[in-house]
Amino acid sequence: MPEKKKTAVVGYGGMGGGFHCKHALKSDVISLAGIYDIDPEKRSAAERNGIHAYASLEELLADPDVEIVTVAVPNDCHKEIVIRALEAGKHVVCEKPVALSSAELEEMIAASERTGRLFTVHQNRRWDTDMLRIGALYRKGELGRIATIESRIHGSRGIPGDWRKKKEQGGGMVLDWGVHLIDQALRILSGVPVVSVYARLDYITTKEVDDGCHIVMEFENGVHYIVEVGTSNFINLPRFYMRGENGTAIIRDWDMPMEVVVRNTSDEKDALPIKAESGLTKTMAPRDSDTTYSYQVPMPPSDVHDFYRNFCRAIDGLEPQLITHEEMRRVMRIMELAFESAEKKQVIHTVV
Ligand SMILES: NC(=O)c1ccc[n+]([C@@H]2O[C@H](COP(=O)([O-])OP(=O)(O)OC[C@H]3O[C@@H](n4cnc5c(N)ncnc54)[C@H](O)[C@@H]3O)[C@@H](O)[C@H]2O)c1
Repeated sequence: MPEKKKTAVVGYGGMGGGFHCKHALKSDVISLAGIYDIDPEKRSAAERNGIHAYASLEELLADPDVEIVTVAVPNDCHKEIVIRALEAGKHVVCEKPVALSSAELEEMIAASERTGRLFTVHQNRRWDTDMLRIGALYRKGELGRIATIESRIHGSRGIPGDWRKKKEQGGGMVLDWGVHLIDQALRILSGVPVVSVYARLDYITTKEVDDGCHIVMEFENGVHYIVEVGTSNFINLPRFYMRGENGTAIIRDWDMPMEVVVRNTSDEKDALPIKAESGLTKTMAPRDSDTTYSYQVPMPPSDVHDFYRNFCRAIDGLEPQLITHEEMRRVMRIMELAFESAEKKQVIHTVV
């Protein structure tokens, strides 16, 4: 077993303290050297929790024992800290969204290439079992040609009252949640180019940043992939819905099984009309079990610790870095196209 790699976390907030530090304390591949937070209160809180707090970012970066720096600060501070850490010779994990623009991201990637240090983004939701199950079913091809995949995250509490509400700090739901769902989409349709993007943004609870988004990506193979984030949804739509020519799959909520219904015959009989509300319909008559089969897929095992396991093995040259610079570029570009589309109220046709 190789020695654990010492990791220091910049930002001791919800994600730095609440996730990365706790994660490092339980990890089989990294250990926690300490944290730095610009807020002295946060540094004291870390010390009270038995975690070493560096007095400054300089001191953290100068610690020769620290091999990995994890950056978990508000989105507008990512670029500067990432580049400083790379230039100090550290490998860097940055929280999502990795940057606020493609131009910023290119500066970060250039710093990684210049210094020969690894740089990745914490797209932890690649380990969500809902997306793993939809991805596996998509690749299996059981539903035939896929027309649409719909991926939604709905809440009703607006945006929390911190930097996430501020435009200059990289607030808004495209950058906060859209980034995860877009990354998942590109992962599920791995290798298929996006050929157009259309987006509509919500400004329901705040005018400064988008508090919801509806993004439609058209892939080259004809799949329409809808990403929707809502913060004013008091009734949620399903987390995932995938529709193909031969069947449909749905995951209704976190921690729910995937339900799949598939046509089992090509010999379709005409349906009998049913009474629906104030009329009759044959077109919308439900199927009986003679023409379909159905099953459920429970949550498969998934371990988000594989993120740092992969990063450490990539540092040791034992396997490729899972979340690549090219993938980071594509996600960033789609988010930019979504903003452009929403502003122009147009579909943007371009290949990503
Ligand atoms: N991957 C995920 O699932 C996930 C979930 C939540 C947040 N995030 C991301 O993590 C990052 C942090 O979010 P959060 O929810 O922890 O925010 P937060 O506000 O809870 O914490 C941010 C911390 O950074 C500190 N900070 C601000 N500027 C700093 C600087 N220049 N140097 C050092 N410390 C600084 C703040 O004092 C604060 O303690 C964001 O990029 C966010 O998008 C990711």
